[in-house]
Amino acid sequence: MKLSDLKNARWTLDHPELGTGPVSIEPYRSPEYFQKMRDKVFKQTWISTGKRVDEIPNAGDYFVENIDITSNSIVITRALDGVVRGFHNVCLHRGTQLVFQNYGNVRGRFTCIYHGWSYSLDGKNILKTEQDMFFHPETIEADLIPVAVDVWKGFIFVNLDPKPAESLREYLGEELLGLYDAYPFEQTTVQLSYRADLECSWPVLRDSQLDGYHLKYLHKRSAPGFMESGDDPSRHAWDFKLLGRHSSGSFFGNRARISADLSKVAPVTSLASRLGQTIATNTAANVPVDKWAKGVNPTRSENWFFDYLYIFPNMHVVFLGQSAYIVHKMMPGKAHNTSSWNARYFGPPVQADDLVSKWTSEYMKYSLRDLWREDGNTTIGAQRSIDSGVFRRMYLQDQEVLIRHADKTLNDYVNF
Ligand code: FES
Ligand SMILES: [Fe+2]
Repeated sequence: MKLSDLKNARWTLDHPELGTGPVSIEPYRSPEYFQKMRDKVFKQTWISTGKRVDEIPNAGDYFVENIDITSNSIVITRALDGVVRGFHNVCLHRGTQLVFQNYGNVRGRFTCIYHGWSYSLDGKNILKTEQDMFFHPETIEADLIPVAVDVWKGFIFVNLDPKPAESLREYLGEELLGLYDAYPFEQTTVQLSYRADLECSWPVLRDSQLDGYHLKYLHKRSAPGFMESGDDPSRHAWDFKLLGRHSSGSFFGNRARISADLSKVAPVTSLASRLGQTIATNTAANVPVDKWAKGVNPTRSENWFFDYLYIFPNMHVVFLGQSAYIVHKMMPGKAHNTSSWNARYFGPPVQADDLVSKWTSEYMKYSLRDLWREDGNTTIGAQRSIDSGVFRRMYLQDQEVLIRHADKTLNDYVNF
């Protein structure tokens, strides 16, 4: 199929509930909207930590997940029984934060630095120092407060609702589960992690990842020519899917140019891409496309660059191939015009004694950093335009249908 075969397609029109009019920027600028979003979205839905169960393989391994919009700090840990659990990172004596490192291992127990209370890996209070000095110690409720944790394909999600209305599988929905069930997430390892605190609202950050229109314009320096289609210059996507509150997109890439011309325009990129996994590697050619998970490169195009998967509200996966993907975690900050972004790249394991795979992995760090800087640069100015009151509404074209859909999903939650 060619992109020009999609000439009359208007994905937005297939979903009349989305409308075609200008989009309000209320969610991007209103502190009241921000508070409703906190209560109805971030306190009630499944939030991706962006991290995987294989990152805490041993009993006592833990990581901390801070959720600024709700002021929560959560510790996710693996107990002696192998189960991954979540607890509020709160000592039950006077509320002191229990662990301070983002990642670590506690040897068998969590011990509070303040007065030494201790907790087992499954959250039970096992020591109140000087217990006989407390009054009515039998009435003290001292076990750690659990947080709902659930796992999809190795990815750890949390839900701040003490009794989530749906399991994670129900929340993701059958269609999404079926599309990505066969993707071998577990065969990769995390190779880099970037984080930034941005002076922009969370929807501005979200939109910067869901945009299918900007690729060949904003990224023309870091990914030259990859996304230009002579076939139909106003097409970027092979496919968009709305998956209930979630969504996906599959995008054109000029693989012929990547594999042939690139050696002329960017010889280092070309070499790295042929030797290992980079954003330009012709991964579509490495594994027969009919062996791929149904959701990745769903049109089985030879000229495929990457796919998006957006899991509402805060997870965005960019599939670069059958064994390479990026996970973005997009979180609101403490106020409506701050947010934090974390991007982690997962690829084939790098062997310490294999210089080639180490080099291509290093190359990937810098090329992704350049791409993300381009994305990040757009966000702060956009927020200023919004907060100043000068910029009042957004006009979205058809290739921005995922933004329109995400905006409607958010409004549906907030106005429920
Ligand atoms: S606050 Fe943790 S032991 Fe006192
Ligand atoms: Fe981008």
